[in-house]
Amino acid sequence: MKFSTKTIRLGQEPTPPYKPVMPPLYQSASFAWDDLDNPPPFDYTRAGNPTRAALEEVYAGIENAKFGLAQSTGMAAVATVCSLLQAGDHIVAPRDIYGGTFRYFQVFLKKQNIDVSYFDATRADCLAEEIKPNTKLVWLETPTNPTLKICDIRACTSIAKGAGATTALDNTFATPYLQNPLDLSCDIVMHSTTKYINGHSDVVGGALMWNDEALTAPLTLYAKSAGNTPGPFDCWLTLRGVKTLAIRMERHMQNAQAAAEFLQAHSKVERVHYPGLPSHPQHELAKRQMRGFGGMVSVEVKGGGEAAKRVAKSTKLFILGESLGGVESLVCWPPMMSHAAMSEDERAAIGIPPSLLRLSVGIEDVDDLIEDLDAALAKA
Ligand SMILES: Cc1ncc(COP(=O)(O)O)c(C=O)c1O
Repeated sequence: MKFSTKTIRLGQEPTPPYKPVMPPLYQSASFAWDDLDNPPPFDYTRAGNPTRAALEEVYAGIENAKFGLAQSTGMAAVATVCSLLQAGDHIVAPRDIYGGTFRYFQVFLKKQNIDVSYFDATRADCLAEEIKPNTKLVWLETPTNPTLKICDIRACTSIAKGAGATTALDNTFATPYLQNPLDLSCDIVMHSTTKYINGHSDVVGGALMWNDEALTAPLTLYAKSAGNTPGPFDCWLTLRGVKTLAIRMERHMQNAQAAAEFLQAHSKVERVHYPGLPSHPQHELAKRQMRGFGGMVSVEVKGGGEAAKRVAKSTKLFILGESLGGVESLVCWPPMMSHAAMSEDERAAIGIPPSLLRLSVGIEDVDDLIEDLDAALAKA
């Protein structure tokens, strides 16, 4: 079954008695038992629910995985992966991971005596240097947020495997439509489904996908115990949203490529970060590893942080807001928004200057989007 068919059909066969084409919303916290000898397939929604099960079938299918687990948010999915670790373990992660993941590692894992080292996402050899005897998890994110660096997944997973560490990859920016890390030897894929997978900015959610059956019991037991699973209505909305992932991504990519090319030629722009531009330092690796370059573009505006803020405040179609991956275009100023959890020095060290704006290029008409960027840049 090909990608679009999976998003529309997996787990969603019309079933008797009414044979609904869209899976019903089982908005129930609890399910009745017939007797005590035969527990029902679902008994309590924190542990499992038929609407969630349909979505989990889609999640597994689109990442070519055997198993899928729906989570209440992307951060819940990060926490579930980290529950595999114990005090005294060590993680290695790229320097420019999502700010919320960085905060979780720095504040909560450190409190549990789990140490984290960071490496340059573009250099697998730097990952090798950070590995220690107690490294149990290599966390990857590619393209990175917000500088869109590309990490060589195969090179990193082979280093991690050599060290006996599990690899988990945040595939939120690329989406399973453009990149399948399990096929490149990763052990666990993680998504904030709040973004492209749901795609309509009306649900927060997360997902984990994996192949190794040995991971199933610890991951699902943690989710059931911590209660970080989503409610049925959020699953139902996401089932609806994910059906159009393939066609949305095609349009996101077309618009992002056009916006990146326009920005690169603009006199008020210092630098554009987009893996689809031949000038991107890992353009060739992105071409090899991904099936397209995604919908995120970052731009450094000439004139520093104040100029970038003026642009962010001046766009009309690009809404100034957190998040990404929805049908509508958004602009974000990382120091106060996505990367507020990092200090200015930490941001500078990973190449996020105050002049950088992150654009989530939506699927509106591209001419309107470019006109909007042009008018806002005039205020830089
Ligand atoms: C790359 C990435 N990973 C994880 C998250 C966290 O996801 P959520 O907000 O659904 O918890 C985000 C949120 O912006 C993100 O951009």
